[in-house]
Amino acid sequence: MSVLSVKHLFGLEDLKKQDIFKILDTAFKFREVLDRPIKKVPSLKGKNILNLFFENSTRTKMSFELAAKRLSADVTNFSSGTSSLKKGESFKDTIQNIHSMKIDCIVIRHSSPGSCINLTNYVDAAIVNGGDGFHEHPTQGLLDIMSIKEKFGKIEGLKVSIVGDILHSRVARSNIYGLIKMGARVRVCGPPNLIPRNIKQLGIDVSHDINSTIRWSDAINILRIQRERMGIGIIPSIREYRKLFGVNKKRLETYNNDVLVLHPGPINRGVEIDSNVADGPNSVILKQVLNGVAIRMSVLFLLLGGSD
Ligand code: CP
Repeated sequence: MSVLSVKHLFGLEDLKKQDIFKILDTAFKFREVLDRPIKKVPSLKGKNILNLFFENSTRTKMSFELAAKRLSADVTNFSSGTSSLKKGESFKDTIQNIHSMKIDCIVIRHSSPGSCINLTNYVDAAIVNGGDGFHEHPTQGLLDIMSIKEKFGKIEGLKVSIVGDILHSRVARSNIYGLIKMGARVRVCGPPNLIPRNIKQLGIDVSHDINSTIRWSDAINILRIQRERMGIGIIPSIREYRKLFGVNKKRLETYNNDVLVLHPGPINRGVEIDSNVADGPNSVILKQVLNGVAIRMSVLFLLLGGSD
């Protein structure tokens, strides 16, 4: 039984602020476990967790698997590309067959928005959204917020910018919902055609100027430019994007050398971020990955009934 006010984690839009606090507090405790020589606790011994991934992933899939193992749960990985879906088995039959193996929690990544909610029609396991199309990627939003909090000790009152393709980004959406709930001031920055109309209604700032955005921000979260969107009129060229929005050392030195730099990964070096920024002193990109394990431990632990 979930310790949170929700049984499933579908997104941060509908998650209560107190649940976000609880997930963050618990994640910081699990971060300490990850620093120990023996990085394992018995909290979810006997629980079965399934990673159900219909899209590629490095960070999310591995860190959910590691998180489950660090909590002593049993974990099974499902990849659609090597499953009987390829023989024509339906989504519903696939899910019901898997669930009959007594699964307690399913982490799903799928290209369709709402696919995680759809799962509740077939199973009674706790569901965690590992990214559903352009909709949300809540554990990424939470680990980004944790990484900012780790640096500044708070979120309330901080100025945080999200830079890049906001329109097609589930990471942007989860960050915006979570950061606003936690009291941050949020700005999005990118080409006009990659910023959703009416986004200001969420209570955020919109800018198309990367230089003033860097100057304004305590932290900037730089999104991956999805190369699959090149050449179809959405982004004219990598070179132009880099010139107008790429975050490089010169821009940091000129406009704000103290800004915290985040990126959810995978990164395109030399496009949205230069290597000397990604690997430089402002960057917490690899800390985000470690915090991702702690956040996912926290989410699994709390949804499956863990208590302090
Ligand atoms: N940040 C993120 O979701 O990365 P993966 O696609 O590798 O999981």
